[in-house]
Amino acid sequence: MPATPQQTRRHYLMCEPTFYTVSYEINPWMDSTRYTDAGLAVQQWQVLKDTFEQLGHTVETIDPIPGLPDMVYAANGATIVDGVVYSAKFRYPERQPEGPAYEKWFADHGYVTHTAEQVNEGEGDILGVGDVLLAGTGFRTDRASHDEIAKVTGREVVTLELVDPHYYHLDTALAVLDSTAGREQVAYYPPAFSDASRAELERRYPDAVLATEADAACLGLNAVSDGLNVVVAPGATALAAQLSDRGFRPVPVDTSELLKGGGGAKCCTLEIRPAR
Ligand code: ARG
Repeated sequence: MPATPQQTRRHYLMCEPTFYTVSYEINPWMDSTRYTDAGLAVQQWQVLKDTFEQLGHTVETIDPIPGLPDMVYAANGATIVDGVVYSAKFRYPERQPEGPAYEKWFADHGYVTHTAEQVNEGEGDILGVGDVLLAGTGFRTDRASHDEIAKVTGREVVTLELVDPHYYHLDTALAVLDSTAGREQVAYYPPAFSDASRAELERRYPDAVLATEADAACLGLNAVSDGLNVVVAPGATALAAQLSDRGFRPVPVDTSELLKGGGGAKCCTLEIRPAR
């Protein structure tokens, strides 16, 4: 039986979507001909930020940069494990300036940073669970970066291959519900993974929550858990029910405007994991 959920306080970095728009298309959710409302995006983002603060978490912000509309997806900005920063190196030119911008924020705030040589999109593809890092590949992050981050952090890295372009980042297909070693719990959408990666997930997490197609299609797995409260897209009703059954508290937050860029709550939230 999975352990009873328990909250741990988190430290997040977020970026206000002041300059939000969809002006290019680098994932199947993005349609540059569709109307986007930066004002509404800011409102939804503010509710998300307020929600984290009301839950007792610390949220810091990085200033948005004009011309980088995807900067709101802070999860892609870096990976922080044990207080050490591994920078992002974005696949597409449109987002490449974000890597140095996020790395500079961390350097300015006194963190030790490692500039990535290999292409990786931060916590979009690299998720800490217990002592291991789950690392996605297939669309954005190169496998070579998995070796690089293993060296930088000293952690075991488990490569997972994504096969559906709608679930192009690991955090769109898998949510870490409990990251504490010995109590690990995850939720994922099996069809987003290759056969071998699905088998690996089944072996490591036999009690995992399996999301339905409808849960996945509203990016319900792009959820942020503090070990107890799970901030999740309101449309992911079957997922929320499964979470409640296990003692988690689903906290629905509408990020529909940000879904037009292909992201949800988790994409907007970079977790700063402190030194152990
Ligand atoms: N438009 C962004 C991109 O395609 C969305 C990123 C979503 N972020 C995430 N952590 N999955 O790169």
